[in-house]
Amino acid sequence: MTTGPVIELRAATKRFRGATGGVHTAVRELTLSVQPGEFVAVVGPTGCGKSTTLSLVSGLEPPSSGIALVRGEPVLGIPEGIGYMFQNDAVQPWRSVLDNVAAGPRYRGASKAKAREKARVWVEKVGLAKFAGYYPHQLSGGMRKRVALAATLVNEPSILLMDEPFSALDVQTRALMQDELLRLWSGTNAAVVFVTHDLDEAIALADKVIVMTASPATVKSTFDVHLPRPRLVEEIRMTPEFQSVYREIWESLREEVDKARERSVVAS
Ligand SMILES: Nc1ncnc2c1ncn2[C@@H]1O[C@H](COP(=O)(O)OP(=O)(O)OP(=O)(O)O)[C@@H](O)[C@H]1O
Ligand SMILES: [Mg+2]
Repeated sequence: MTTGPVIELRAATKRFRGATGGVHTAVRELTLSVQPGEFVAVVGPTGCGKSTTLSLVSGLEPPSSGIALVRGEPVLGIPEGIGYMFQNDAVQPWRSVLDNVAAGPRYRGASKAKAREKARVWVEKVGLAKFAGYYPHQLSGGMRKRVALAATLVNEPSILLMDEPFSALDVQTRALMQDELLRLWSGTNAAVVFVTHDLDEAIALADKVIVMTASPATVKSTFDVHLPRPRLVEEIRMTPEFQSVYREIWESLREEVDKARERSVVAS
């Protein structure tokens, strides 16, 4: 058993070479840590470097300086036990719901029968049992998200990285998916880093909300969210506790959103 944070970034900086030869700093001296079983939401203005931060944790991009650690080990390549859910549905259009969910276990060496057996459990858990034989184009956007969620969770990740996974959904479907995520995550002890530009979503889901600065991203401030669990997002949003923590975090986030907006006006 390892103790201590499962994810750590220590003064991680990421620079990209721009198309015109310059260098763009996407993430600067970013330090954060996530404990096993902790749900951390990351909010910040568009383009500030949130997705890049996830890339550092997942090993898709190495830091230019500083260090990324998973379970205390420097990240070299994609660490074991990582589940990644992207903004766009990562479902495969030519595979049925069941086979989309079975793809992960198959890839990890399970037999076809075993993989399908595991997949069936998760297809049921996300409420798609009746649709196991459907193909993605036969599903609604919300249902495709459920497939993507099942396809991620079937691998029992100990680290769940989520990059605005629900932002394309309408408000009601989104709330349903948020509840679904909390229900499926509870008791797994997985560490979650959930990127969103929606502060409401961040607070409803997380134990801790990290506000990023306008580009380059670094941690501006961190807020603990002490709302009780289990939570139902539509209910918890109405509580005075939620609204007071919302106001507090929004004060911090608004400055960064304004900065990013001013810059984009100047640049255009
Ligand atoms: N592979 C890359 N090569 C070059 N530049 C990149 C690369 N990835 C990201 N960037 C740049 O880094 C900056 C931060 O991008 P990133 O995608 O991390 O922002 P973000 O906060 O996730 O934005 P959004 O909220 O719009 O999703 C952007 O200016 C982007 O153009
Ligand atoms: Mg992004």
